Amino acid sequence: MKMKITSSRAREESSARQCYQLLNSNNVQVRAFRTEDLHKCQEIFTQGMVQLISLVLRVVFPRYIWLTSASSFFVLVLVVLFQWRSAVFLLYILICAITLSMLYIHVYIECWKFINSCLATDLKDIEKVYMTNNGCHMWVAEWNGKVVGMVGLVHNENQKPGMAELQRMSVSPACRRMGVAGKLLDELLNYAKDQRLERLVLTTTNAQTPAIRLYRKYGFKLVAVFSHPYKTLTDLQYHCFELQL
Ligand SMILES: CC(C)(COP(=O)(O)OP(=O)(O)OC[C@H]1O[C@@H](n2cnc3c(N)ncnc32)[C@H](O)[C@@H]1OP(=O)(O)O)[C@@H](O)C(=O)NCCC(=O)NCCS
Repeated sequence: MKMKITSSRAREESSARQCYQLLNSNNVQVRAFRTEDLHKCQEIFTQGMVQLISLVLRVVFPRYIWLTSASSFFVLVLVVLFQWRSAVFLLYILICAITLSMLYIHVYIECWKFINSCLATDLKDIEKVYMTNNGCHMWVAEWNGKVVGMVGLVHNENQKPGMAELQRMSVSPACRRMGVAGKLLDELLNYAKDQRLERLVLTTTNAQTPAIRLYRKYGFKLVAVFSHPYKTLTDLQYHCFELQL
């Protein structure tokens, strides 16, 4: 009985969310990037990536929390057994706290390095990189006249013919779960089919679960997984997805 109530409530919540998405996404227009959208796109991308810091920490921290807790317990046992001064234990706790803080700073710096490298390369001049290069394109989503989302498609000489990469997908935090990313993807897929592309590729991380669900929903298949090159961040994995068109 309880299960029945829970599942009917879940169904109601899901259909209410779908109605909400439908009502709101009707006001969303997807169009090609224009020069005046540059700063807004840079802002939306930065907001999305800054949020990534806490998501990455959620992936990277558990191993270190477990290690520091287990080792602190071990040190505590030694302190009790050998009747060492309690200051030894406190010193160890301090070392653990410093290590975790350094890890936080490390993740923070790495995320900002990535953000700054994107802002200094393709997102510095979106018009030039995405709108004038053959096979490249950038779309923005407008909601009530404001740019609230973006996605880019890149085809370069290093890629095989018929293949392009989806990148810089981001939606303003206030407009998430309204179907904006879905609309951007629909537009990108139509364009890719018109261009007779055969394969779309993209890379994301295991920290970006909303993005992974989004891409899976649209039929992207996971084709490769590799860990972050830094030993300290090996729990952060890059997931490469592919969609055959
Ligand atoms: C990933 C992101 C673009 C999704 O944008 P969005 O407009 O909120 O997504 P939509 O509302 O169109 O949702 C489409 C589907 O994505 C998935 N999804 C999106 N957000 C989700 C969330 N928070 N939790 C679980 N699934 C989610 C769902 O499958 C959803 O379909 P459903 O509503 O039928 O369940 C957005 O969360 C974002 O900008 N994140 C930060 C930047 C980022 O990680 N970009 C990806 C770079 S690879």
